[in-house]
Amino acid sequence: MCGIVGYIGDQEAAGILVEGLRRLEYRGYDSAGIAVLNGGDIQLRRSVGKLPALIDLLKEKPVHGTLGVGHTRWATHGSPCEENAHPHLCCKENIAVVHNGIIENYVELRKELSEQGHRFKSQTDTEVLAHLIESFYTGDLAAAVRQALGRAQGSYGLAVVSAEDRERFIAARKDSPLVLGLGERGTYLASDVPALLPYTREIIYLQDGEIAELRRDAVQLWDAHGQPITRNSEIISWDAAMAEKAGFPHFMLKEIHEQRATIANTFKSRVSLEPPAVHLEDSLPVKIAQAVPRVCLVGCGTSYHAGLAARHWFEELAHIPCDVEIASEYRYRRFSKDRNTLVVGISQSGETADTLAALRESKAQRFPVLAVCNVLGSTITRDADHTLYTYCGPEIGVASTKAFTGQLTALFLLALYMGQSRGTIGRSQLYRHLKALSHVPAAIHHFLESDHGIEAIAQDIQGASSALYLGRQINFPLALEGALKLKEIAYIHAEGYPAGEMKHGPIALIEKGMPVIALAVNSRVQEKMRSNIEEVKARGGKVIALTTEGGLDTVRKADHVITLPFLNEEVSPLLSVVPLQLLAYYTAVAKGCDVDQPRNLAKSVTVE
Ligand code: F6R
Repeated sequence: MCGIVGYIGDQEAAGILVEGLRRLEYRGYDSAGIAVLNGGDIQLRRSVGKLPALIDLLKEKPVHGTLGVGHTRWATHGSPCEENAHPHLCCKENIAVVHNGIIENYVELRKELSEQGHRFKSQTDTEVLAHLIESFYTGDLAAAVRQALGRAQGSYGLAVVSAEDRERFIAARKDSPLVLGLGERGTYLASDVPALLPYTREIIYLQDGEIAELRRDAVQLWDAHGQPITRNSEIISWDAAMAEKAGFPHFMLKEIHEQRATIANTFKSRVSLEPPAVHLEDSLPVKIAQAVPRVCLVGCGTSYHAGLAARHWFEELAHIPCDVEIASEYRYRRFSKDRNTLVVGISQSGETADTLAALRESKAQRFPVLAVCNVLGSTITRDADHTLYTYCGPEIGVASTKAFTGQLTALFLLALYMGQSRGTIGRSQLYRHLKALSHVPAAIHHFLESDHGIEAIAQDIQGASSALYLGRQINFPLALEGALKLKEIAYIHAEGYPAGEMKHGPIALIEKGMPVIALAVNSRVQEKMRSNIEEVKARGGKVIALTTEGGLDTVRKADHVITLPFLNEEVSPLLSVVPLQLLAYYTAVAKGCDVDQPRNLAKSVTVE
């Protein structure tokens, strides 16, 4: 949610900032801007809309200098217009600020600063920071930022440049991620690692409350109490190519195709077949896996759907009662959990404000907390007691795909591990499940290699105003996930429903030609989907059925059938979601929607 970049070095800053913003655009794309220092002046360029508008502006009005900051915005306070685009300047126009987060007390600060004579040009909360810093600035930028932040409430990842100081710029964070990059040609700042990858893999994560001073060849960090600290840099294993499209027209399609590898990456070093075993001791001590009376899975959006699917595994395989909660609701609910309930926060980014808050609340109540996360070193992984990583590499498409199957894989392993630790799962059963899991990457590969007519189905449904996704048991969360994908990238209203519930209400919506996606893949309840399909057909709905080799009879009446290779029921969601992702993708493409940057969305939701 909003992307920040910064650079100080011996190269022209503008190109580096724009390239960084391009790699962060998934975080917001309402407007973009940069501020570059040239002599004693701050050169500001801002434009509304996506990055190409800023690139055009820079062609027309180039900026030169080797120190600068940039921002790509997801609007919270103030509409997406040029005045509200970052960077924001102070009255004298010699301090520029880019900010991700929300300054909650900005109204009172703005009033106070206005009374002191500061003139505001935008409706944003961020602009108060530029004026506050100006009011404290006496030549030491870091000190002025520290004093200003002492007055600000809320969340921030920010970067600040002063026209009077060509040797440094300042960054600070609270509840909003920032990473420093140490390169040969300078020092870099970004909200997320992909922006740094073309320049360096040597990074330092800034932590909450910390302030950093970035110079050409060094960084200085201070902790939340203003004490200087040293932190060793880390070398990350991602490379620049992982954050490129690799010949695919969109990141989303590339990421759908990557799933065969990312699922394997997530399980392969953690399982053995002879004898069958799951090794997650590094992520969760056996003692905890044995002792917890209950599991509570918490997440938002797609990550929440992964939790809903995984509940079946915790109950079936580990015989552990399992609750699944939407993080933004959980944090305000007062429900009683058994002592020692294991709270599992599921998050691709590791920065989602609601999931973070839910985990912090759980920790405060002394529940053991485990993070299932994709981004190394993200806030959630630092806050949690334990972390189970998904190894999916950077996910850039705003609509989550490979992270979802990575989460499913990690949670499946966790359920098996808990079952193994508690003795609820026998050797042969464990072997069977691990073997089935080992077949998933090849099944996805096989499926993606052949044509299933999904593009043609997408053409057929692209004009629909509404769609229904139906599934039972573990396929119900997949119905929710399929509907979410269609909503967010193809802008078609869609609902996921437990198929058995259809006749209790949603059936009233079915009319001629309405697409109904029926998940009738192999399972113990597969046959029950037959009557749902009949009911939809009897009312003129258009059924798109997903089934497994051998299940064609069940879906005989469907208008379109997508057939999946056979997989053991337990692991089949890892494959069944792929056609749902593709259907949403091709429908969005058919409608001419911007697949990787759907309207109103941002990848990492760092505000409540
Ligand atoms: C949907 C999607 C979102 C995220 C949600 C949680 O395609 O991407 O619903 O799943 O915002 O994000 P993370 O997993 O980063 O906490």
